[in-house]
Amino acid sequence: MTLLLEPRVLWRLLRGIPRHGTPAQRLAKFYGPQADRYDATRESLLRGRRPMLELLDLPPGGHLVELGAGTGAILDRLGSRANGLGRISLVDVCAPLLAVARRRAAGRPNVTVVEADAASWQPDEPVDAVVLSYALTMIPDWFRAVDNACAMLKPGGVIGVTDFHVSRRDPPVGLERHGFATRMFWPLWFGHDGVRPNPDHLPYLLHRFDPGVVLERKAPIPGLAGLRAPYYVFIGRRRKRPGA
Ligand SMILES: C[S@@+](CC[C@H](N)C(=O)[O-])C[C@H]1O[C@@H](n2cnc3c(N)ncnc32)[C@H](O)[C@@H]1O
Repeated sequence: MTLLLEPRVLWRLLRGIPRHGTPAQRLAKFYGPQADRYDATRESLLRGRRPMLELLDLPPGGHLVELGAGTGAILDRLGSRANGLGRISLVDVCAPLLAVARRRAAGRPNVTVVEADAASWQPDEPVDAVVLSYALTMIPDWFRAVDNACAMLKPGGVIGVTDFHVSRRDPPVGLERHGFATRMFWPLWFGHDGVRPNPDHLPYLLHRFDPGVVLERKAPIPGLAGLRAPYYVFIGRRRKRPGA
């Protein structure tokens, strides 16, 4: 997040996410004043987006859903891969960010912008791929959003998730263990803006899907010299067993 922000954007970030109203109202109030500057100010912060998309296997002609799609920046990141997809559905509850997504989607006949809750919206038929990019930490019913993503995927369909996180005190075998200060600091720091790094996100994804790739990395935070926030990239597939 650059520090060269317009006063109204900086003021909104300093005040944090409003405490009152429905989740959609709170997000609209928070993101409304910064919707047009969102993309420019998140570029260096949300480091997992690029590797997650590079690792995501997208079948030509397939249907990709992004839950918590915000401004639809995924369209730019996918580049020419976006044209090879049959359908792209961008789902979010935040009207000001979706207004930016709609402008981006103009002239792209394979893109649909949907104002709906990631925890409950379902496509008309099963899809090939689902993405959650820095969205899970902002979705209150995150476990329902993960279950919902699983339910909309075809058996064998792929999911890509990237987000900030902190580890459990005793993480599952193979995952990193963060120290006490890390586990305490980042939820407090991000919580002000409604972002909740959660020690259960990654273990739940590992439980719910057949894991393909798990990366755990740290990103420098503009304005917090020397501090690096942990994030992960998860690529998995819906299990082929019926009912899984
Ligand atoms: C940090 S932004 C990430 C946006 C985008 N995916 C990206 O990578 O730039 C988190 C997004 O999650 C959305 N969000 C939060 N709760 C949601 C929900 N229940 N259903 C759908 N979207 C939600 C917010 O409105 C916001 O657009």
